[in-house]
Amino acid sequence: MRVVIQDNYEKMCQWAANYIAEKIKAHKEDRPFVLGLPTGSSPIGVYKELAKKNKAGEITFKNVVTFNMDEYLGLPREHDQSYWYFMHDNFFDHIDIPAENVNILNGMAEDPEAECARYEEKIASYGGVDLFLGGIGVDGHLAFNEPFTSLTSRTGVRDLTTDTRIVNGRFFGNDPEKVPAQALSVGIGTVTDSKEVLILISGHNKTRALAASVEGGVSQKWTCSALQLHKAAIIACDEEACGELTVDTYKYFLDIEKKERL
Ligand code: GLP
Repeated sequence: MRVVIQDNYEKMCQWAANYIAEKIKAHKEDRPFVLGLPTGSSPIGVYKELAKKNKAGEITFKNVVTFNMDEYLGLPREHDQSYWYFMHDNFFDHIDIPAENVNILNGMAEDPEAECARYEEKIASYGGVDLFLGGIGVDGHLAFNEPFTSLTSRTGVRDLTTDTRIVNGRFFGNDPEKVPAQALSVGIGTVTDSKEVLILISGHNKTRALAASVEGGVSQKWTCSALQLHKAAIIACDEEACGELTVDTYKYFLDIEKKERL
């Protein structure tokens, strides 16, 4: 695992956007580059940077296919808190990606389990995800894979914990009851099957989750810890999120990243 520590949120986002842009540019195959994407506050700066690069002509998304991590169950696309709405508002409306290249789980599907199975099949039809960008929850959830979700899980319907509904209540008039109780989500196994995984971890409220991801044992209590079993996982984080790392770990990653840049 690589842990790339940046001074602050802006620098973390710039680093991640540069990394993604380089991967897209380097992709010379006929098949599209398959990019997994998250919602949340963490990726907003990355989306802004990528849109800037797209406008400046540095990269194009014409040969990129995206798969979003998750969607609330029961929220229509038009709802301003649906992840469909979030992604268009923050990213897709600002880049040159063809509409048919965008994949987001349908939270209004009549048969949600069938929708999840279809999603897995569609990912497989492209040969899997090349790079999955993600964020994590305060309790370490990846996508909506709450604590104690199987680390080999596939896309399916998930119950949200009270903790997550309280945290996400900030987008629903500070009322956790208004946050849908369930969501459709890619599984931990879906994410770790990707060729590369890049996770953004920023801010004081993620210090425990970062320490669990990097220093704790692999445990279903912290589903993010499954990244330790991935062959090419990167965590991009900011200084604020490092508060619970041991000094040794913190210094090790600063040191080794410095060497890579020489
Ligand atoms: C939600 C999403 C996750 C996201 C998490 C963290 O619960 N389902 O995919 O990573 O929020 O969000 P934020 O980046 O706002 O802290």
